[in-house]
Amino acid sequence: MKKLTDILEQRISGAIRKVTGQDLPAMVRVSTEPKFGDYQANGVMAAAKHAKMNPRQLAEKIVGELKIDDLCETPEIAGPGFINLRLKEELLAERLLAMNTDPDRLGIDKTDSPKTVVVDYSGPNIAKQMHVGHLRSTIIGDCIARLYDFEGHTVIRQNHIGDWGTQFGMLCALFDERLLEMSKEGNFSSTEEIMGELEGFYIKAKKRFDEDEKFANTARYAVAGLHSGDGPWRTYWESIVKESKKHYIEIYSKLSVTLEDKDVRGESFYNDKLPDIVETLKQKGLAVESDGAMCVFPPGFQNKDGDPLPFIIQKSDGAFLYATTDLAALQFRIRDLHANKIIYVTDARQAQHFQMLFAVAKMADWTESNVAESSSFGSEPEKSVQLEHVTFGTMLGTDGKPFKTRTGGTVKLKDLLEEAVQRAQSVVEEKNPDLPVDQKAEIAKAVGIGAVKYADYSNNRNSDFVFSFDKMLAMEGNTAPYMQYAYARIKSIERKAAGKDVDIESELSGVKTLAFTDEAETDLAKMLIRYDQAIAAAANECRPNYLTAYLYDLAQAFSRFYNVCPVLKADAAQRPVRLLLCDLTARTIKHGLGELLGITVVEQM
Ligand code: ARG
Repeated sequence: MKKLTDILEQRISGAIRKVTGQDLPAMVRVSTEPKFGDYQANGVMAAAKHAKMNPRQLAEKIVGELKIDDLCETPEIAGPGFINLRLKEELLAERLLAMNTDPDRLGIDKTDSPKTVVVDYSGPNIAKQMHVGHLRSTIIGDCIARLYDFEGHTVIRQNHIGDWGTQFGMLCALFDERLLEMSKEGNFSSTEEIMGELEGFYIKAKKRFDEDEKFANTARYAVAGLHSGDGPWRTYWESIVKESKKHYIEIYSKLSVTLEDKDVRGESFYNDKLPDIVETLKQKGLAVESDGAMCVFPPGFQNKDGDPLPFIIQKSDGAFLYATTDLAALQFRIRDLHANKIIYVTDARQAQHFQMLFAVAKMADWTESNVAESSSFGSEPEKSVQLEHVTFGTMLGTDGKPFKTRTGGTVKLKDLLEEAVQRAQSVVEEKNPDLPVDQKAEIAKAVGIGAVKYADYSNNRNSDFVFSFDKMLAMEGNTAPYMQYAYARIKSIERKAAGKDVDIESELSGVKTLAFTDEAETDLAKMLIRYDQAIAAAANECRPNYLTAYLYDLAQAFSRFYNVCPVLKADAAQRPVRLLLCDLTARTIKHGLGELLGITVVEQM
């Protein structure tokens, strides 16, 4: 099914074209209040300005031209020229039935202008344990990738891990030292045993580097060896990277994050491309020497004193930087991955880096290719690759300060997730002590991990976000447990039905027409058919909170319905309709949580 808002938009903007002779948007939105109908067109006032007409009169003419009675009751004009639309029940019925027959996509069409979208997210700096700083990028990025996937785009996930740079010299040096010790002792252990808890290995290497001149020299020597490929250093580096990867792959799997090994294209991948990047920018006359370093000065960027701000791509000692690697990555994604759009998900502190990166890429003309083939109704075909930096705020503790352990250290993700599951375990224990142990553990895992993810998703990503176990595990409010419970509650209705010999499947497949007898049914139906828009809005603006807000509204509409409309005790004529509303609500919640947010639902809570 096409999105209802798109259909309404098309019809009304068609009528605007007939009346004014101009292509102007109808701006159809979900109404803010039920008294204004279900949807409203907000574009008439702006159109009137364009056409130099009186807005109310224009609205009347548009309504006169409009053929929409297959979808809506007679449109109403309100205020200075809003057009209010109320959906016909037949339309609701038709849409619900279409959702019912399409279990995978709930009747939602794929985009008719698919693009290749690169989503760059997570990007931990390996050889250290993943800490909370990477949690937000990992889970927000994952939702964005899932949303674009679902819309029918070709999504290429890229995990731009920090796996290169001088710190790897000291890690290799320590690794070398350990191997030597072991060969003296005559017993060899695995990389895992050598490196132990990653954090400890890193801290030890750093300490040795700072305190021991001889060690520091070996580390520098190792860096040179890493670059040239001489000596054993690359092999050591490979072992170190492989060991670290195990650690974060484990976290991804705990979080149900879709990143895989094939998505890893770390900084090291671009290493041999960096001299070329600098050369190209020099040849284009964009990179110039400044205080011995090679810099690009994109227009419009200034420091505090009003001087042009450099985007440094090579230091005076010849070393390349984060910026150089990002330029190489950007070029690779456009040239080799054929990206039409690249989305970077990092915290807001990197905003200037990405603004400058995008500006330099544009100066170099790298973005003027890969034009998307077709375009959907009403939108201009894109002329260049879209670059987008999706930012998010800082994670704060309940004290309002950046999130730290009680002793002031950075919080390791692994510990955090374990604590979430533990706390969820006691919630389950309290609510449902009699369930089998295995089932309680499974629920605790779904609820604990789900709570951490959902709390982040439901927050406006640009705001700083207070991490509170108590809040995220609350059964009331817009939380994972509330949503998971809403789902489980519908499942329990279905279980009860089976106990009463009601065959839901045959009742549902028998539904060919729908008639509503209660306003709460119609309200729930209207909410259900809005799922496609919630997805589109969340994808367009890369805002998972639009999706969670929708799911919460849906769960509440369900609650209101269930409070006034008996389902299993309804009379034979109305029961299939109500069962269908229950089932579609459950399926929508399951799809939203499971497929788009990667949060497990449980049948019982
Ligand atoms: N490793 C970086 C960090 O921890 C994030 C990488 C983001 N992606 C990129 N293409 N720069 O800050």
